[in-house]
Amino acid sequence: MLHLSDPPAFYRLHVFLCTNRRPEGHPRGSCAAQGSESLRNYLKARSKELGLGDVRINSAGCLDRCELGPTMVIYPEGVWYHFRTTEDVEDILQTHLLGGGRVTRLLLQPTDTPETRRQVEA
Ligand code: FES
Repeated sequence: MLHLSDPPAFYRLHVFLCTNRRPEGHPRGSCAAQGSESLRNYLKARSKELGLGDVRINSAGCLDRCELGPTMVIYPEGVWYHFRTTEDVEDILQTHLLGGGRVTRLLLQPTDTPETRRQVEA
C-alpha cells in the first residue's frame, strides 16, 4: 500500500523476470530451464531499442511460482505474467509496458495453479 510520505517512484515500471535455474530433473523445474534467460535478454534489448528509459527490466531469483513459469511480475501494479515465446514478451512490451493495458491471455491470477493455466491455454 502506498503511503502519502512515500517518495515518487524512481521507475515508472519495474519488471522482474525469474531466471532461476535448478538442476535437471528437479521436481519444481525452473524458469531458466524453460527459456527465461533468452526471453529476458529479448525484453531488455527491445526496451532499450524503444528508448524505454523509465522502465527497468531486471533478472530475479526464484519468485516461488515455478510450476507456472517462466514468470515475471511488474510493479507498481504487482501484475504477474506467464510467458513462453518472444511473441508473448513482445505482446507484454507493446500492450502493458508501452500501452498501459494488460495481456489477458498471459495474466497469472493469485489463485492460479498449473491446472488452471492448462484450462486457460486449452
Ligand atoms: S524458478 Fe522461476 S519462479 Fe521459481
